[in-house]
Amino acid sequence: MCGIIGCIGEAAAQPFLIEGLGRLEYRGYDSAGVAIWNGKEIETRKSIGRVSRLAEALNESPLDGDTGISHTRWATHGAVTEENAHPHFDASGRLALVHNGVLENHKALRDGLLGRGHTFVSQTDTEVLAHLIGEAFDCAPVQDRDALVAAVRYALGQAMGTYGIGLLHADTGRFLIAARKGSPLIVGFGDGRQFLSSDVDAIADWVDEVIYLEDGDIAALDGDTYEVHRVSGGEATPPAPVKVEAPPTREGRGRYAHYMHKEIHEQPETLREVMKGRLDHEGGTAVFSGLQRTNEELREWHRIVLTGCGTTYHAALAGESLIEALARIPVECEYASEFRYRNVPLDSRTAVFAMSQSGETADTIAALRESKRKGAPTLGICNNVISTIARESEGGVGLRAGLEIGVAATKTFTSQVVALAMLGLLLGRIRDLPHCEGMDIIRGLESLPELVAQTLELDEEISRIAAKYISARNFLFMGRQANFSIALEGALKMKEISYIPASGYPSAELKHGVIALVNEETPSIFLAPQDGVYEKNLSNIEEVKARKGPVIAVGTEGDETLASLCDDVILLPQVPDFLAPVLNVIPLQLFAYHTAVALGCDVDKPKNLAKSVTVE
Ligand code: AGP
Repeated sequence: MCGIIGCIGEAAAQPFLIEGLGRLEYRGYDSAGVAIWNGKEIETRKSIGRVSRLAEALNESPLDGDTGISHTRWATHGAVTEENAHPHFDASGRLALVHNGVLENHKALRDGLLGRGHTFVSQTDTEVLAHLIGEAFDCAPVQDRDALVAAVRYALGQAMGTYGIGLLHADTGRFLIAARKGSPLIVGFGDGRQFLSSDVDAIADWVDEVIYLEDGDIAALDGDTYEVHRVSGGEATPPAPVKVEAPPTREGRGRYAHYMHKEIHEQPETLREVMKGRLDHEGGTAVFSGLQRTNEELREWHRIVLTGCGTTYHAALAGESLIEALARIPVECEYASEFRYRNVPLDSRTAVFAMSQSGETADTIAALRESKRKGAPTLGICNNVISTIARESEGGVGLRAGLEIGVAATKTFTSQVVALAMLGLLLGRIRDLPHCEGMDIIRGLESLPELVAQTLELDEEISRIAAKYISARNFLFMGRQANFSIALEGALKMKEISYIPASGYPSAELKHGVIALVNEETPSIFLAPQDGVYEKNLSNIEEVKARKGPVIAVGTEGDETLASLCDDVILLPQVPDFLAPVLNVIPLQLFAYHTAVALGCDVDKPKNLAKSVTVE
């Protein structure tokens, strides 16, 4: 995790470093810091918490200079303290370093340095690397730019794990070094300035072209020219510069108090966007030019693996049922964080879809690379289409949901599920699915935005219901079939923004253990639409009521049986069974949101989380 910005050029660095850092806050917001070379030495400012606090500190006491680095941290090694905030310095105090990633052998390296008389002010792995580079630099016969590149190469040659680093040294002045392995790092070129950044969007307003550093690259920048060296030795041919497209506009919160609330309400529009131009009425099918596959090639697939993390994994679970039902192809969902440590059977006829809102989740990138290594076709399903996953996969599907700023994913979840439904439709129609059934699916999909809009009208009612349960210390979420994935997602939303323990189960699992948790203080939220398993869900609800457990049910409009059985009901418009998960998740998103607001939680930036998890 963590975000890095570096700037070297003709103007003062501080405004670029701070504004760019604000755009990288989705990568972590435990603490932030900046270091700028003032022509003689390097000065630094750090603060705990958001970038805005660092900006306040800099307003009071600005840093002058045209060469600097900055960092927003998501803590991995060491608590959230000012000492552990980046940048970190070497023993001489003249080298400053920012780092994204995890050095797995930091303990051994630290012990070695301690043995050679070094002392440390932080518990971080990053400070160890700063000392290692500084020590090698100080040992060089001459302390010049070549010596600094050589010192970086030497230290990184000893480092195990992942890194994206930016550094500067007071002795080499107007000179920045960047290097990466496993963590993304981009070099950008603008009007009289060069930049380092963890992603393109953060610097897109100031640069015309960027290069994406490869693993093992060390870039050396002097504000005008640049060189790319390899950690393994020698100079590299720099990657070809890529023109930068305008980043998606970052709109404000409008009439909403939080981005999450706004993004929940954007779902009718984002669902229209994900379907736009992709439903083919004549063929009764879906079209995805981004897959870059002919129908003959798609028919070759005999198995699909969907991999992702967190909310995205839950979308994959919902998609599994949809694709299997429509296309009759076996689908497996794999946690991306487990993928490379399992020996998932893969072959050239098993398509692996790496799913990720951000396209930068480290575990999902690793799963994608592992799949490539094993010869499987790799496709991406991403919202951010200029991300690592989008670039490294052979083709894919863009979600077009616009920027999602709330850390809790909402609108991108429903877009992912609908993208998978369309994929199931396409794969079904080139196999056994008849045209008339394809048309039913299309009609169902096209009705969704309006049904979601109607569901969103229940916002206030859901807020009132949530208010009744804010003293609950545990929530159970239950659903069957594809709605089990929605139970998992409802529980995750509750945990991540309100910090109330919550768990999701298939409803029938209740009597296999979960029922032990049922009591008067533990609300159960049942997903009980009038589908093929409706009566089964009613029986499970009865079992909870018999043990005095409060029940909130999400059901179908006009369902009086459910209303009479449960303490509270949220009744949604009728929708075809296969699309019910898309509708059912909306009240759970709103329920978690209103609970978190009532408890005074920081909804858009929950503690300990980051929007994009870029470390393993
Ligand atoms: C969702 O609310 C979470 N923020 C988290 O689980 C997220 O879905 C997960 O980290 C995967 O992110 P990605 O889709 O960007 O890969």
